[in-house]
Amino acid sequence: MEPKVTRRRFCSLTPIATLTVAAATTAASVSSTAAEPGADDALILLGVACSPRRGKTTAAAVAKALEGAREWSPRIRTELIDLGGLRIAGWTPEPVSDDFDALLPKLKDPRLGGLIIGSPCYFRSLSSLCKAFIERCMPLRDPVMALANKPIGALAVAGNRNGGQELVIQQIHAGMISYGMLPVGGHSPAMLGGTLWNNGADRDDLTKDVTGMESARLLGRHVGECLMRLAPK
Ligand SMILES: Cc1cc2nc3c(=O)[nH]c(=O)nc-3n(C[C@H](O)[C@H](O)[C@H](O)COP(=O)(O)O)c2cc1C
Repeated sequence: MEPKVTRRRFCSLTPIATLTVAAATTAASVSSTAAEPGADDALILLGVACSPRRGKTTAAAVAKALEGAREWSPRIRTELIDLGGLRIAGWTPEPVSDDFDALLPKLKDPRLGGLIIGSPCYFRSLSSLCKAFIERCMPLRDPVMALANKPIGALAVAGNRNGGQELVIQQIHAGMISYGMLPVGGHSPAMLGGTLWNNGADRDDLTKDVTGMESARLLGRHVGECLMRLAPK
């Protein structure tokens, strides 16, 4: 059972401790790509797609970012968690049982090197599913800051070219900084992260947004680079 988190407890959590939690179980909404299957020194990069529409543009963008990370090093193993269709409760005063329970072991895996979180832009903001996911990660702060000092990359997909993508990226960064994570952008011109445009005529086909997909790839590549630089030798 998860420890009860009060406001006082949230504000006083100790920074970093070593994780000894067992390796992950497989969740229904996870697809993996192992660059070197079975490699003992593999580092895991999880991509979390936070659209209620499973397998749509946000998932495609996160998959592209993970592809970029794998370019950086064959040690990086990536997994895409598509939250579409899952029930994620957000933070609640009493422990709750939802689909997050199956994802938690993956987030606690000691081989986890970083995260990429993608959200659709909803009213110039992150999706409620994305916010719920971020809040629901509270067990990763207590009793240890399991995500501390790991890179977090963010991307956003919107229906308009300037539909709030950078606002959403900043909201994701701000949330994950609360877990001690280190925000990482892409290299130029994707400085803040992945900014993608689900354009009108080709609705839901992100391959037409060449610039946006490249920003996702660059984001993943830089997260992959930082993950490798921060990883224990
Ligand atoms: C409730 C809702 C609010 C939206 N708000 C915005 C918005 O503020 N700006 C924008 O450009 N697009 C907006 N969109 C469009 C989505 O961001 C866009 O279609 C995105 O590609 C959806 O991601 P998905 O394909 O992964 O579901 C909105 C869509 C919905 C359903």
